[in-house]
Amino acid sequence: MRTLLENIGEMITLQPLTSEQRGHSIKEEDLGRIHNAWLFCDNSTVAALGPMPVPADIRKFAGQVVDAKGALVLPGLVDAHTHTIFGGTRFDEFAQRLNGASYQEIAAKGGGIQASVKGTRQASDEELMKSAKRRLTRFLRRGVTTVEIKTGYGLAFKQELRLLKLIQVIRKNVRMEIVPTLLALHAVPADAKSAEAYVEEITKRLLPLVIENKLARYVDAFIESGYFSVEQAEPFIRAAEKGGLGVRVHADEFSNSGGAAAAAKWKAASADHLQHASKEGIQAMALSGTVAILLPGTSLYTGIPFTDARPFLEAKCAVAIASDFNPGSSFCENLAQLASLGALHCHLTSWQAIAAVTYVPALSLGLGDRKGALEIGFDADFAVYRMASLEEWLATMGQRLPSEVWLKGEKLHSY
Ligand code: NIG
Ligand code: FE
Repeated sequence: MRTLLENIGEMITLQPLTSEQRGHSIKEEDLGRIHNAWLFCDNSTVAALGPMPVPADIRKFAGQVVDAKGALVLPGLVDAHTHTIFGGTRFDEFAQRLNGASYQEIAAKGGGIQASVKGTRQASDEELMKSAKRRLTRFLRRGVTTVEIKTGYGLAFKQELRLLKLIQVIRKNVRMEIVPTLLALHAVPADAKSAEAYVEEITKRLLPLVIENKLARYVDAFIESGYFSVEQAEPFIRAAEKGGLGVRVHADEFSNSGGAAAAAKWKAASADHLQHASKEGIQAMALSGTVAILLPGTSLYTGIPFTDARPFLEAKCAVAIASDFNPGSSFCENLAQLASLGALHCHLTSWQAIAAVTYVPALSLGLGDRKGALEIGFDADFAVYRMASLEEWLATMGQRLPSEVWLKGEKLHSY
């Protein structure tokens, strides 16, 4: 189907970033903002766009014409850090937190990641898939069209493999773009002999299977005291790199554990959290092209500080914002809301904030040639909002759903 959307009040394309595939040093001009615009989609991709009026030869080819009536159009949002597949709930932890318990105190009492491991192992394949799909629908309704999903609540050879296989089934069943990440090093399993023994098993037994069957595009590890050290994670990361997988890292969340520097050394696609990243770590990330992914939802939930984006921006590091959607420390699929809160509390400008939830995370996921921007040849993923401007979108804090969400040139939701 060839679709022409016309009378778009404001369209943010982020076109200037796409030719260089650039995620850093973003300026206002990089918004590629078009007032009173049109957008032409040829089946699943963007074929042309520009300011009104629509050229006659474009209109002639349109199979359907949609009047956007002055609405705002933004690229589909890209969430590059989620833990969307898990069983059980941890709402009791929320209550504990209200009574003053910290993330670490909850974890020390058997809560946190270990609680979700229990819930996940107990859940059937069907339950896990059904709940993950429900969550993905909630993402989509809020304009998120690409979602990275990490394993990490299996924490055993068979269980992590099961989660990857379930993610693969989900990928085939939804039109959203799903990027699978093996986060087998999320925590040391309660039943493991030692961290080293667990890493060895995952590296020698699981990783070759994952690589051979293309079950993941990335690996991830939680580098933090009480979880994995850089040295413990190293053999797993190096083997993954050798097998052609990309690297993402949970880094420097509670303390400076050398995560940012290690991510740079490993040429990781992203390092995420980063509250306590060192100056040297930030510099190294900028040099290695590692994207800094900030997770303001986790700060809101657990009371840990927001990551200040400014040192990363000054170092010319690309900065993204993701939801960290998970059952314990950020139960929030509303990436638009986190873009607003992240802009306010991590200190991003409006143009940095919209790029942080669209093109920059797409780049970090290796999708900088087709996602996160409205450009010719890119997937026609976008959302229509009954708003006048990007500034209104940011100021309304993700409270208003888009009126339409389009995925690969097809309208999926209208409200
Ligand atoms: O990114 N920091 C480590 N892992 C997750 C939390 C997962 C959980 O608590 O279940 C995170 O915040
Ligand atoms: Fe996380």
